[in-house]
Amino acid sequence: MAKKIAAGNWKMNGTSASLSELETLTKSHSTCDCAIVICPPAPLLFRAANLTQDSAINIGAQDCHTDQSGAFTGDVAAHMIADTGASYVIVGHSERREAYAERNRDVRNKAEAARDAGLTAIVCLGESLEDREADNTLDIIGGQLAGSVPNGATADTVVIAYEPIWAIGTGKVPTLDQIIQVHDFIRGELCARFGTETGNQISLLYGGSVKASNAAEIFKAKNVDGALVGGASLQASDFSPIIDALN
Ligand code: G3P
Repeated sequence: MAKKIAAGNWKMNGTSASLSELETLTKSHSTCDCAIVICPPAPLLFRAANLTQDSAINIGAQDCHTDQSGAFTGDVAAHMIADTGASYVIVGHSERREAYAERNRDVRNKAEAARDAGLTAIVCLGESLEDREADNTLDIIGGQLAGSVPNGATADTVVIAYEPIWAIGTGKVPTLDQIIQVHDFIRGELCARFGTETGNQISLLYGGSVKASNAAEIFKAKNVDGALVGGASLQASDFSPIIDALN
């Protein structure tokens, strides 16, 4: 059985004042059957990890570099993220694949760096609207999965987030059948590559316009083990009902 995970990606939103949202979550969800992960911007990681230290909330970063150190101005290494007290890192988000031309092998290298630093990598996959309309969704997802997920992946080192690009921040959500089709496909590919036991243990999250009003419906789907939420994770009042829908 895969672990259920409610993850929030704050993207480039939030300052120290936003830590009060985290504080609210730690109080409202002092225990939880699922894992709760909040990924704030890098400058907040240390304080966020401190604040949530003895709570049910885990902290994650939104990206990491492949190397341990060096002349990479502006970048952050995976072990530096672990050093803040964070335990997850998102890699290969479509916004980074697009803005920074990240290829599958870059994402895979980042996921390997995360694993080596003791972090769980949330590896993002997703097709464009063009891909979907051309009926190429499963080919694209299959290629991203094969290229971005490290060999020897386990449920402790990798979580997969399926985020159709056209559903991110648009309010457009795929039909339940479309989500099920892709998640079943990903599960099958993971089982074929890593064996049935490991393949079934790796958590598969759906991301793209998840909100309180649609979360319960999405979570009903087999092979949907939770969500990676953007906009609706910024306020505790929006994110709490999504966590509750998963429990
Ligand atoms: O990583 C989360 C994401 O890209 C989905 O964003 O705002 O559509 O929930 P949103």
